[in-house]
Amino acid sequence: MYLSIQLTQLWEELKSNHLAKYGTVTAVTAISLVLLRRWIAGGVCRCRVRLDGKTVIITGANTGIGKETAHDLAMRGARVVMACRDLSKAEKAAAEIRRSTGNGNIVVRHLNLSSLLSVRQFVHEYTASEERLDILINNAGVMMCPKSLTEDGYETQFAVNHLGHFLLTVLLLDMLKKSSPSRIINVSSIAHKGGKIHFDDLNFNKAPYDSLVSYRQSKLANLLFTRELARRIKGSGVTVYSLHPGVIRTELGRYVQTRHPLLSALLSFPALLLMKTPSQGAQTSIYCAVAEGLESHSGCYFSDCKLKEPAPEGKDDLAALRLWEISAKLVGYDEEN
Ligand SMILES: *[C@@H]1O[C@H](CO)[C@@H](O)[C@H](O)[C@H]1NC(C)=O
Ligand SMILES: *[C@@H]1O[C@H](CO)[C@@H](O)[C@H](O)[C@H]1NC(C)=O
Repeated sequence: MYLSIQLTQLWEELKSNHLAKYGTVTAVTAISLVLLRRWIAGGVCRCRVRLDGKTVIITGANTGIGKETAHDLAMRGARVVMACRDLSKAEKAAAEIRRSTGNGNIVVRHLNLSSLLSVRQFVHEYTASEERLDILINNAGVMMCPKSLTEDGYETQFAVNHLGHFLLTVLLLDMLKKSSPSRIINVSSIAHKGGKIHFDDLNFNKAPYDSLVSYRQSKLANLLFTRELARRIKGSGVTVYSLHPGVIRTELGRYVQTRHPLLSALLSFPALLLMKTPSQGAQTSIYCAVAEGLESHSGCYFSDCKLKEPAPEGKDDLAALRLWEISAKLVGYDEEN
């Protein structure tokens, strides 16, 4: 009898000790997870600037960080033009944003960045019907898609992520200048690191196509363009910024999912913990769009709502100039007019 009481007591003690330990471990884990999540979430744009009376274009605004950015700028009272390829998805997103922000001034326009004709049509209609353009956010992009050529004959990632946006930006420059002070924001990526512009083989006709190499090239192109453009339009009242939004759970990974199922499975487990939500990912875009006093940093690169030094390849001014000239030729843009 005595023994059994002793034994029960011992058992109880063990159990409570164990539980205490378990409790501590759980608490420490929970706190670490919260801290980790906060660290992953990155910078937050706390700026309260209003955008009443201003007009913003966001490419690829129907999903992911584009949609979150559209939502935030709509909250600030901007007229938001969602430039999207898929009109029915875009209309749905626009309706949601109108409802949740109470801002009825949200419009959808068709823009297919893989078609230079579509870019020209978009700009033509835009300039014919809109009064001003205060902020252009070049947000749309494709990532690591299989090799394909656009109707204009260019490799898709280079065409969509770079050439389409290049033409869009230069064709809208006059309107941006008229509305100045105005801003252009280029959503690039840390993937520019290790990137290289394959000047002799932009379309990967000679070298075997590697979707990651091509993605890096297109993102490095975004960065180089921001620098070159900043140089060209200095003093015009238009300033330009490029940024890394972070690693985010969005549809950008759609090609990774279908093309590399193993990679996708590996990524999806820690993804929930380690990746930013689209709204966290939109913070640096929003920051570059509205934060006051950024003008002296035109041409610079941002990450987590802070200035960031790009990789050396992102600061190669000669490559930037060369890329500008080639791109202008490829899209048929004549600077004199
Ligand atoms: C976009 O343009 C490409 C041509 O490069 C075409 O194949 C595609 O169907 C177009 N998509 C939409 C939704 O307009
Ligand atoms: C943004 O990137 C696109 C694609 O590289 C480029 O064409 C455009 O000129 C850039 N715009 C700015 C403002 O840097």
